[in-house]
Amino acid sequence: MSTGPILFSPFRIGELELRNRIVIAPMCQYSAEDGCLTDWHHVHLGQLGLSGAAMLIIEATAVLPEGRISYADSGLYSDANEGAMARAIEIVRRYSDIKIGLQLAHAGRKASCGLPWNGGGQIAPNAANGWQTVAPSSVPFLPTENPPIALDVAGLATIRDAFAAAAHRAARMGLDLIEVHGAHGYLLHEFLSPLSNHRDDDYGGSLENRMRFPLEIFDAVRAAFPADRPVTMRVSGTDWVPGGWDIEQTVAFAQALEARGCDAVHVSSGGLAANQAIPIGPNYQVPLARAVKQATTKPVIAVGLITEYEQAEAIVGTGDADLIALARAMLYNPRWPWHAAAHLGARVKAPPQYLRSQPRQYRDLLER
Ligand SMILES: Cc1cc2nc3c(=O)[nH]c(=O)nc-3n(C[C@H](O)[C@H](O)[C@H](O)COP(=O)(O)O)c2cc1C
Repeated sequence: MSTGPILFSPFRIGELELRNRIVIAPMCQYSAEDGCLTDWHHVHLGQLGLSGAAMLIIEATAVLPEGRISYADSGLYSDANEGAMARAIEIVRRYSDIKIGLQLAHAGRKASCGLPWNGGGQIAPNAANGWQTVAPSSVPFLPTENPPIALDVAGLATIRDAFAAAAHRAARMGLDLIEVHGAHGYLLHEFLSPLSNHRDDDYGGSLENRMRFPLEIFDAVRAAFPADRPVTMRVSGTDWVPGGWDIEQTVAFAQALEARGCDAVHVSSGGLAANQAIPIGPNYQVPLARAVKQATTKPVIAVGLITEYEQAEAIVGTGDADLIALARAMLYNPRWPWHAAAHLGARVKAPPQYLRSQPRQYRDLLER
């Protein structure tokens, strides 16, 4: 019986074997060109590949050009996109055996934005780098924004097909896992939340109807990706707005996903409404992950202001979640898992070029 830290114990999502419980959360880099990953991604993903984490999830990648948050987002809707991503994956894999997942996304009414470091806001459809957005209903995120066009049945079919086509491309590139982006106020979350979905057809109104399109997308991706590789979903556990999407509905959604063969749920929150009131602090989303974990049997990933080694160990040790994901902490300290291993008395896989880097007191903490 192992007495080592749970954080560094192996785990499986479906048939995918992970060497520890640390996942690098998807992070948009706003550095793609026409949807194609660039040299920036080789540097960024390359260094994260050496982090010692078990899995790296590539940033939100749009299944259609108009599904990008910004004109500099990653996409997977063309052969050129696929070629560029395949090259980035090849570079990471050459030096690392980290598992590589991909987040497939459509930004819905939150598409057509500027780069965050230039202010971010929505770009009008008739301005350079802007386009007309689509959503479940013609309700903008902010009242000052250009309203999205409500998707008709043909529009829904186009998006379903695009998710399936991107999943086929992901399979061809050898990606280990797909995470469908159902969180943060983007298209699928817009269908789930009564605040953004005002439809009166089969895709709006009751919880069952609001879940219909996200579940159809899950099914389309699941059918297009090899059965022995996991398909998972990222959710917002709540809108943090009274009357919005909440944890009870999230649990129902997670159960519906589980019934359809979803291999894991990654529990984030918010992003749908400008008046959200988020109680930000360490572990602020962990209770949402715990609620999903208690109501389902599939693996759950917790995320959000997890920055400390003991904190991460406690989340998986108490069983609130099976895995933890890190975003900002990993950008700040890309070898966070090395430091966590040293602190907790575990080992990480390190490239041979870096083996001499260990401080004397932590000798033999790196796997060769
Ligand atoms: C630079 C940056 C880019 C992000 N891009 C994405 C994304 O592509 N998809 C997504 O679901 N979340 C995205 N997020 C949210 C993170 O995945 C994560 O959920 C959030 O930052 C909270 O985790 P943290 O406290 O460890 O940073 C992004 C966050 C950051 C900081």
